[in-house]
Amino acid sequence: MDKFIDLRSDTVTKPTSAMRFAMLEAEVGDDVYGEDPTINRLERYAADIVGKQASLFVPTGTMGNQTAICVHTRPGQEIICDGRSHIVLYEMGGPAIFAACVTRTIATDDGLLDWGVIGSMIRGPSDHFQGTGLIALENSHNVAGGRVYPQENVADICDKAHAEGVPVHMDGARIFNAAAHLNITPAEIAAPVDSVMFCLSKGLGAPVGSMLAGSRSFIEQARRVRKGLGGGMRQAGVLAAAGLVALKESPAKIPADHANAQYLATSLANVPGIVIDPSIVETNILFLDCAQSGMEAFELSRRLREKGVLANAVSATRMRLVTHRDVSHEDCAVAVNFMRDILNARTI
Ligand SMILES: Cc1ncc(COP(=O)(O)O)c(C=O)c1O
Repeated sequence: MDKFIDLRSDTVTKPTSAMRFAMLEAEVGDDVYGEDPTINRLERYAADIVGKQASLFVPTGTMGNQTAICVHTRPGQEIICDGRSHIVLYEMGGPAIFAACVTRTIATDDGLLDWGVIGSMIRGPSDHFQGTGLIALENSHNVAGGRVYPQENVADICDKAHAEGVPVHMDGARIFNAAAHLNITPAEIAAPVDSVMFCLSKGLGAPVGSMLAGSRSFIEQARRVRKGLGGGMRQAGVLAAAGLVALKESPAKIPADHANAQYLATSLANVPGIVIDPSIVETNILFLDCAQSGMEAFELSRRLREKGVLANAVSATRMRLVTHRDVSHEDCAVAVNFMRDILNARTI
């Protein structure tokens, strides 16, 4: 197969020529000494984009989230978050390992929390427990299908959390997708939260890296935690250079990814055997249910691969598709046709 149509994740995006040229020409220095001019430029630029005093370049979104948790909390404290959030499901138990915290999770359909339920779980320290150390929101929410917080919700949660003395961290791995959906800026989304992490290496297309942003003193502490986690990088300006290009050039392309996701959802809703609700597809991630087709999602995924389309089954009946800058509208149309062919052949 010459080229796969890769709908597994937006992490599969490859760096553009502009990014590769910028990497070639990047001025570098030792960033642990604070001497990498390209990283310094990226950190300034990224902080401005999310409207925070400072930011820190980290190798991964996971390190950004875990660093934030370590800075905000003390051992034994509780982190209130959605039960399917990335920090709970896919960060290797990091909150327990690195921050010695426990997560108190809330079950939701759409991944989005509100103060009604969070407020009832907040508790101060006592002789029996350490109390709440942090609230973590994921925006957009990956496993809930790219859902986006209404901004009033984020503001309400943060106002009330702050009144209780509890900080709020946003896992904004895909904050640019959330911003495109809401038609507001990433800075507007991040304004009420104390810290925000966002990824350069997903829909924005950089090869490596994420940013953690917050107040100057928060980022000073985060820099030390990052070093402790093994994330003190040296001449990583070559990576930051690609990140700067990604931040400047890629956000404008995200609405096209959302249009492709909407196209996939509406087209697949008409394929017999597939159940998907296009009205809940807000960004670039969608989940479909193929139980009624009589074919297991794992088998559907295998057959699609034979035809050159990559899509992950997440259970026997569900499959996740993710659009990004390296799949075109035409690629999506091909994927829909293959899916229809495979399921038609099955039911005949
Ligand atoms: C919502 C969310 N947060 C954090 C991450 C972690 O990013 P990384 O893979 O760079 O560690 C991901 C990765 O998919 C994600 O989807």
